[in-house]
This record gives sequence, C-alpha cells and structure tokens, in this order.
Amino acid sequence: MTFSGQMINAETKRLPFDAKHDGRFEGQHILSIGQFSLQDLVYIFDVAEEFRLMVRRVGALELLKGRILANLFYEPSTRTSSSFIAAMQRLGGTVIPINEVRYSSVSKGESLPDTIRTLESYADVIVLRHHETGSAALAAKYAHKPVINAGDGIGEHPTQALLDLYTILQERAKVSGLTITMLGDLKYGRTVHSLAKLLSLFDVKINYVSPEILRMPADLITHLDGKGIKQTQHTDLDAVLKETDILYVTRIQKERFSSETEYNSVKNSYVITPDTLAQAKPDMVLMHPLPRVGEISMEVDDDPRAAYFRQMEYGVYIRMALLALVLGKA
Ligand code: CP
Repeated sequence: MTFSGQMINAETKRLPFDAKHDGRFEGQHILSIGQFSLQDLVYIFDVAEEFRLMVRRVGALELLKGRILANLFYEPSTRTSSSFIAAMQRLGGTVIPINEVRYSSVSKGESLPDTIRTLESYADVIVLRHHETGSAALAAKYAHKPVINAGDGIGEHPTQALLDLYTILQERAKVSGLTITMLGDLKYGRTVHSLAKLLSLFDVKINYVSPEILRMPADLITHLDGKGIKQTQHTDLDAVLKETDILYVTRIQKERFSSETEYNSVKNSYVITPDTLAQAKPDMVLMHPLPRVGEISMEVDDDPRAAYFRQMEYGVYIRMALLALVLGKA
C-alpha cells in the first residue's frame, strides 16, 4: 500500500506541507500527545514511512551511530521497551536497557530526578515508563537531553497514540469521516486517553463502550466536546458495533484496581469472538495496544480485520522516526 504523511493533508485539507518543519523536534521532549499539530503528524509519518521502506530494503542504517538510548522502565513492558530497542538498533545506535529497576539503584531509594541526571550523563535520549502520572514531565524538568514518555501511570502513552493513528492510516488510508469505538478500560487506559486526544484533530465520531465504573474521564470528554467531536457512551458493544469503522479494544487492567473484588466484577465484560466480527462491517479494523488477556479471542487472529499484530510492528517505525527527530538526524 502506498502511504505518506501527505495523506493526512489530502484528507483533512487543512494544512500545506511545510518543508521548513525540518529540525522542529531536535532536542525536544515527547511528553503528551497534545504537543503535536497536524503538521507535526505529517512530518513524523513521512519519516516513519521512509524508515519502514528502508527496513524492508536494507534492515538497518548508521544514522544514529555513536548515539545511546537509555531505556528506563519502572513498569513491565514487552512492545514499547523492545520496539524502542529495535528502533535504536535499526538506526545504528546502542541502548542502555533498564527493564527491571529492581536491579538498579532505584531499589536503594534513588529519586527519579537523580536517576535521570545519572542516565543523561551516559546517554543522548531517555525513554521512560513509570507508574506515576506526570513522571515524564517531572523527568523532563531535570533532564538536559530529550525525554520520551513511554507511559506514565494512567496518564498518557503518546508514542502508542502516534502508532495507532499511523495504523489507522495504513489500514484505511484516511481518518476523517471514520467512526471509532473504544472498548474496555477507558478510565485507567492511558492508550485511549492519548488516542482520543489525537483523534480530536480530525473530523471523527468516537463511541466509548465500557463498564459503568470504567468510563472515559469526564474532563477528557468535555475537552473533546469543546473541539466539536461527536461522542457517545455505552455499556453494550451491540449498540454501536454495526456503525464502527475502527474497533479499539483495551485490556481491563488488574494492576490499576485497588480492590480485587471490584476487578473481578468487570474483568470479563467483553470478549471479541468470530460471532462479534460476523456482525461488524467487512472492512472494520480491529485494533488493540496489547497485551490482551482474553478480551479478543485467538480465533479471530486470522481474520483480515484483526490488525493488532500489524499495529505493533508499525510501532517500530514510529519510534525510529521519533528517535531520529529528537536527535536531529531525520
Ligand atoms: N502497548 C504497550 O504499551 O505494550 P507494552 O506494555 O508491552 O509496552
């Protein structure tokens, strides 16, 4: 499929592509999805697309040779952590992987600011996942090198939102005009918080489907209302399944609940099965940031509408683009 960030321009008709954009991200932190304009998206997706084709052709470059990434994860991760490592290595750079802070000086009580000051002495860019909302912003306050937010508690996951939007473009070649349904844990789900904000740059309709106790935060809905985004809320997927173009499923996150009883009351609320897809549009796109713990049956993995494995591969190209951009090498 041919694709370019220019596609966003073509379908939104809102911005001319601006070559002067080069260098805009050099030395910048990536903390929140709200920092990106449509023009930024065009630029990032164009760079990601070049890297996607480059990986297919030659596998790796030496663009970031001599540069070092500190990959600092206070919370578990498979995709975000591994794809940032793969992205840095595909661009010729190297990585200090701290995937288990238990074995670092964090376990001796070292503060986040001191850990960041330490790692920036050794690395050129820091990727941070942390259990506290606002931790990436705190780290950026003390850092003199770019900090990239890889998920801060129940706050945001901006690089995931970028790869989610890139996936929608790859799968459907447009964003405006689509109806996106977000399903599952919308209260604690940082991926849906960031994605909803990002989609508000486009002319879309968003349906939220969740148990009552896991609704999308009211302040986020008000924020999108202010941008003219049509939104609906439901507890039953059947209410919106037939009109859905993108079904974005999320995990009910056990680790975010204070009570196991409360988690057990909602844990199996939704399961996507072949029967679900039988009622959906033939070109619906089924997405999930993963990991899944039963909310999408493995029986649907071979359905062409199941895009979640392609989605995680796209993450590498987006993260290659972000690393190259903040290091001034795109
Ligand atoms: N989507 C995502 O953030 O996955 P990981 O928790 O495995 O990084």
